[in-house]
Amino acid sequence: MRAKDIRAKAGVEPVTMLTAYDAPTAEVVDEAGVDMILVGDSVGNTQLGYDSTLPVTLDETASHTAAVARATENALVVADMPFLSYGASLETGVENCGRMLKEAGADAVKLECGPHTVELTDRLTDLGVPVQAHLGLTPQHENETGLFRQGTDGEAAREIADLAAAHEEAGAFSLVLEHVPANLAAAVTDDLEIPTIGIGAGPDCDGQVLVVDEVLGRSTGTAPFSKSWGDVRGEMERAVAGYKDDVESGDFPAAEHSHYEERLDDVY
Ligand code: KIV
Ligand code: NA
Repeated sequence: MRAKDIRAKAGVEPVTMLTAYDAPTAEVVDEAGVDMILVGDSVGNTQLGYDSTLPVTLDETASHTAAVARATENALVVADMPFLSYGASLETGVENCGRMLKEAGADAVKLECGPHTVELTDRLTDLGVPVQAHLGLTPQHENETGLFRQGTDGEAAREIADLAAAHEEAGAFSLVLEHVPANLAAAVTDDLEIPTIGIGAGPDCDGQVLVVDEVLGRSTGTAPFSKSWGDVRGEMERAVAGYKDDVESGDFPAAEHSHYEERLDDVY
C-alpha cells in the first residue's frame, strides 16, 4: 500500500486505519487487511504510561515505528510526529520526518496541522515524504487550547476547512479529522479530493481511525466516540491470574513442561 493507493480510495471505498505500537499487534492489524497503521503519539498514554502525548520523544516514535514496520507487509505505516519534533524550523522538521522513513521504515508521516505546517507539507512531499495532515482536535495543543471539541463555531469551522484545502494543495495524501462536528467533516470531505479519515467526526468521512487498544478492549476505558470489538484486557487478566494460581498451587510446571534431560544433552 502506498500513499497514492490511499488517495485513490477517496469516494470509492472506505479507508481503514488503526493505531499499533508493537510488532505482534501490527501483524494482526496488517493480516486483517487494514489499509494504514498509525504509530500514534498516543503511544505516550496507551503504552508508555505518560499522562498525555506531549512527552513522547522522537527516539520513542522511531523505536515503535520500526517495530511496527518490521511486522507489516501490506499496510501503509504512518509515523505520528511527536510534539515539537517539527514546526520550530523547516530544516529540523524535514530532517526529523525524513528520519522516520530512512531509519524507522515508515511509509509516511502524520503532522498535527496549523498554518505552520503548510510549507513543511509542501517541502516534505516535494522530497518524497508522504504527509498525512491532522486537523480538528489536535492534542499537542492541549496546553494552549485544552482538549475541547474544535470547529463548533463558524469561524473555527471555516479555519479547519481552509487549512484542509491548504494542506491538500501542499500535497498531503490524506487528512485525519479528529472530534469535529459531523456536518463539518462531511463538508470538508466533499471539498477535498484526498480522503478524510475521521475519529469522532461522524459517518461521512472517507475512512475511520481508532486507537487499537480500544478496538481490542485492552484499555481501561473506551472514548465515547470509540468502540470495543474484543475483551483483550479481560483475557490478559484471566491468563495472568491462571498462571499465578497454578504456580502457587504447584499445578505448574507439570511433568510435560519439564525437559531436564534434553537440556543437559544440549549443554554437554
Ligand atoms: O495518536 C493517535 O492515536 C492519533 C489518532 C487518534 C488519529 O493521532
Ligand atoms: Na496523535
